[in-house]
Amino acid sequence: MSQAEIGLIGLGTMGAMLALNIAEKGFPIAVWNRTTATTRAFHAGAGDQAPRITPTETLEALVAAIRPPRAIILMVPAGPVVDEEIARLTPLLAPGDMIIDAGNANFHDTDRRAAEAAKGGPRFLGIGVSGGEEGARHGPSIMGGGERADWDRVAHILEAISAKHEGTPCATWMGPGGAGHFVKAVHNGIEYADMQMIAEVYGVMRDGLGMDAAAISAVFERWNTGALQSYLIEISAAVTAARDPIGGGPIIDMILDKAGQKGTGRWTAIEAQHLAAPITVIEAAVAARNVSARLDERRAGQALFGAAPVAGAALGVEVLEQALIAGKILCYAQGFAMIGAAAGAFGWPLPLPDIARVWREGCIIRSAMLNDMATALTDSPGRNLMLAPAFADKLKATHGALRQVVAAAALNGLATPALSAGLAYFDMMRTARGTANMIQGQRDFFGAHGFDRLDGADSHHGPWGSHA
Ligand code: 6PG
Repeated sequence: MSQAEIGLIGLGTMGAMLALNIAEKGFPIAVWNRTTATTRAFHAGAGDQAPRITPTETLEALVAAIRPPRAIILMVPAGPVVDEEIARLTPLLAPGDMIIDAGNANFHDTDRRAAEAAKGGPRFLGIGVSGGEEGARHGPSIMGGGERADWDRVAHILEAISAKHEGTPCATWMGPGGAGHFVKAVHNGIEYADMQMIAEVYGVMRDGLGMDAAAISAVFERWNTGALQSYLIEISAAVTAARDPIGGGPIIDMILDKAGQKGTGRWTAIEAQHLAAPITVIEAAVAARNVSARLDERRAGQALFGAAPVAGAALGVEVLEQALIAGKILCYAQGFAMIGAAAGAFGWPLPLPDIARVWREGCIIRSAMLNDMATALTDSPGRNLMLAPAFADKLKATHGALRQVVAAAALNGLATPALSAGLAYFDMMRTARGTANMIQGQRDFFGAHGFDRLDGADSHHGPWGSHA
């Protein structure tokens, strides 16, 4: 066989699916895994794609199997394993060869690796890949980061394997260094928030309206044909419809309410604090996962305070749908604004309309609304999405429902932290005269920090006198 066009290290679920996808699109690929048995089993099971896949049993053999200048994808667990693989590969590579980290790396690590590469090591790209197993196999959304020239060298492969929106590849260069992994982290933060808000309306339906799983599934299915059409609503319908193979009832009623997390949502929340970017809906979603994990404390809390006095929330499911639309718009407005803040802080391009475009297909947060967001971000550059005319109109039509749902949930003891955070953000953002004058007065009183005056007069301290 002629030399492979690209290599891949790490044949776990995502790596294996990505390798099959690459081979299927016509690119000969060489693969290597730490455990040779995994490599052999992968090749044996590769079916029609096997002829375009070269299994290798040493790193040296992998490198030799790829046509120079080489490009090698790493699909290994984020963190130290990536550094270990780079260290093992580097001495085997020639100048101009490139390593592409396609895992869920922390973008600060990607920045560091890119800086090391710039000192003379192999070329380095960090790409965010979203879409889970299915996406990796048949078309993920790809958020690229690194030197533009390096991206351009492999873009034809990454675009070919990516998801397509009406023929347009969902693979775009976001900027240098860690830009691609940064955008992927915000994607995951939004993913957490979308999931949390869906879980909250599920909770209102289950505990406030007394609906069973089948009825809830039917609602999600209906919503998936309207403004909320999205992968996460689609799978929520499937998750609530599925039966428990052991007990026979709805499986959703048997799943422990304790959410896992690998850390990408947390990274986004931490970075938002550094950027002073308010992403309260995402932060609430991350915190909700943390609270969910404290099962023993929640049980103790219920024993002490009693369960929420659910009296039956007087809401129609159409109000929930409108509330979810409002919450989603506010969450995405915050996420895109955070990316805009990062573009300024880091000097990265981070093209907001293109980011909305690559999220339209392939990734976990793909949805019909992202297409409208791409248009709004193009038409109103530099403007918070909630103030862009099309989304301002949608918010005018739906924020009342969000208020109704949050109020009813609060009165009935149902926790809706992400929706509530969205509503509070909306109310702050629509209030020209807020309450930070009190914060400024307090700061000046105890620390003489000064304040600006509404009338512009040149007096910047309060008359606290002996009270100070
Ligand atoms: C994706 C997903 C993917 C994965 C994350 C989320 O875009 O394909 O976000 O990256 O599911 O690891 O994981 P946690 O919920 O465990 O943080």
